[in-house]
Amino acid sequence: MKRLQDKIALITGGAAGIGLETARLFLEHGAKVALIDLKDDDLSAAADTLNAGDDVLCVAADVSSAEDSARYVKAVLDRFGQIDVFFNNAGIEGKVAPLVDQKIEDFDRVMSVNVRGAFLGLQHVMPAMIERKSGSIINMSSIAGLQGSANVAPYITSKHAIVGLTRAAAIEAAAANVRVNSVHPSPINTRMMRSLEEGFSPGHGDETQKQLAASIPLARYGESIDVANLVLFLASDESAFITGGQYPVDGGLAAG
Ligand SMILES: NC(=O)c1ccc[n+]([C@@H]2O[C@H](COP(=O)([O-])OP(=O)(O)OC[C@H]3O[C@@H](n4cnc5c(N)ncnc54)[C@H](O)[C@@H]3O)[C@@H](O)[C@H]2O)c1
Repeated sequence: MKRLQDKIALITGGAAGIGLETARLFLEHGAKVALIDLKDDDLSAAADTLNAGDDVLCVAADVSSAEDSARYVKAVLDRFGQIDVFFNNAGIEGKVAPLVDQKIEDFDRVMSVNVRGAFLGLQHVMPAMIERKSGSIINMSSIAGLQGSANVAPYITSKHAIVGLTRAAAIEAAAANVRVNSVHPSPINTRMMRSLEEGFSPGHGDETQKQLAASIPLARYGESIDVANLVLFLASDESAFITGGQYPVDGGLAAG
């Protein structure tokens, strides 16, 4: 069964990792997909991987820029005429350091991409969904949006902010039948975790990976497809009565 037949999906941070895997799954389920990411080269490589011809639109944009956010949403509406699903996914991890040693410019950059970027995406996508009285938005948070941990205070702060943003947007959009939820993955096997592992223990990232995996009740990292499967459910009409919620996909980590 194709669960997103003829729907138009917009994915930020779509050229790699979880965003790209979600694009692949959405296409398999009948959607047309717009990928937003920083660099044309990365987007071209992602589109080649997806191999779905005109069903994929690529737009290079920085989600933290108000101008770029308006431009990428307009490009998707110009090409496809509507947006049914918005996976507000682009994010960065920032630097690993104790809170007292974090540089303010690094804090600002994480907040700028992870919070301002997600906010701008909502500002520009929601009107198009509200006008059609239909749409599903999935904001990317993290287990780091539900729990604290040491040495990544900017990231933790930014991902907690996504919970508030999701709740506020869900309340405002509900009257127009537009749903807004957040997803909260534990460590997932992508570039981002390699960077964090190295940051936590320089030169010994492999060891950190083993320790982190052992701390998860299901005893492994998640794969991008584990997250994509949850996002597909929240994007589809199967979740028609679900809005304003936080959904862990974490091998049981938040249960501890
Ligand atoms: N990997 C994990 O363990 C994990 C766990 C929980 C949450 N997340 C979140 O999932 C999301 C995707 O992460 P990932 O693991 O796929 O990482 P990734 O680094 O593989 O992919 C992120 C993508 O976002 C893009 N991006 C970064 N800044 C951008 C900007 N300003 N404008 C547009 N695109 C930008 C990157 O170029 C990249 O293609 C992030 O929000 C991340 O915080 C990841």
